[in-house]
Amino acid sequence: MTQYKIPVLAGDGIGPEIIAEGRKVIDAAGEKFGFDVDWIEYPHGAEHYMETGELISEDSLKELSGYPAIYLGSIGDPRVAPGILEKGILLATRFYFDQYVNLRPIKLLEGVWTPIKGKTAKDIDFTVVRENTEDFYIGIGGRAKKGESKALLEVKRELYSAKFGLDIETDSEELGYQIGLISKEGTRRVIEYAFELSEKRKKHVSSVDKANVLSDIYGLWREEFNSVAAAHPAVSTDFNFVDAVTMWFVKNPEWFDVVVTPNMFGDIITDLGAMIQGGMGLAPGGNINPEGTSMFEPIHGSAPKYKGLNKVNPIATIWAGAMLIEHLGEKEAADAIVAAIQQNLLEGKVKTYDLSGKSSTSEVGDDIARIVKG
Ligand code: IPM
Ligand code: MN
Repeated sequence: MTQYKIPVLAGDGIGPEIIAEGRKVIDAAGEKFGFDVDWIEYPHGAEHYMETGELISEDSLKELSGYPAIYLGSIGDPRVAPGILEKGILLATRFYFDQYVNLRPIKLLEGVWTPIKGKTAKDIDFTVVRENTEDFYIGIGGRAKKGESKALLEVKRELYSAKFGLDIETDSEELGYQIGLISKEGTRRVIEYAFELSEKRKKHVSSVDKANVLSDIYGLWREEFNSVAAAHPAVSTDFNFVDAVTMWFVKNPEWFDVVVTPNMFGDIITDLGAMIQGGMGLAPGGNINPEGTSMFEPIHGSAPKYKGLNKVNPIATIWAGAMLIEHLGEKEAADAIVAAIQQNLLEGKVKTYDLSGKSSTSEVGDDIARIVKG
């Protein structure tokens, strides 16, 4: 029997509840398809931070680097100032492992209500490839008070490093600034990933940017997009400004196959994507480094007000679990999990409140595990 070791960071808020269901379903798939998972639990999150002061240390990250895939619940807690845990754990891990692809399927399953009138499962089935390490997420910026000041901003990555020395002079009372940065290498690799993915799908890639205004940063993005497109003549393409793409996602979601986007726009448009596929409770994601350690998680947050209530929908996390085991090579088991989610939704008997049901988190997990075991 194949034996996998999977590190799991349940995290904050509803994280532990949804991860428990994800594990349950993967274990059920293991029974059926002949593999066994040894879950290795990591304590990182608000509680651990408040007790020890550790967000996620270099040592923990080094240890995690021994595994191909991490299973993550959710990070964020109202007892800790916004940004500390998100940047210190979630983004730190994405960046440390150079998980440059954030893969977010936008797929409406049958039996799920979409707020878009007249659209069905066959109309909403595309994938967003969100760049996951650069752009305005790179984490350099600062504040400058009236007068003259200097700042040295640095980015150190495996792929490249960059330094910006700033001589600031202002008569404004105070400035806040943040540098958005993309690199040729970082842009190219994620766009290549998108084209390769589309070759296995409907062979269409849509680029999202704001090159009409942020013309330096997204001018480079477009140049790389065009250059990668030229090397994939069988794939058709289009360009979308990010404001317009929010309109097209709602009006004509059937136009899309693979959508590739810089980090920040990808963050925004995938929440919209989640809504058109039925809600945040149904939207999974993978942070992928094709050659390194990847990490799979629901795209929703930690929903602190529902913590411990056994109430929220675990499907996004269970689906992210399917993406994880597919990444490990268990394609058949992954397909069986997605099919089981689909069957649970079609039967429509065991569902959580967000889908107008009355069942609990664990009842939904039990039901999907039962279907997987078939
Ligand atoms: C997401 C989240 C994160 C992001 C936050 C929590 C840092 O919104 O995964 O979409 O902005 O990437
Ligand atoms: Mn987000």
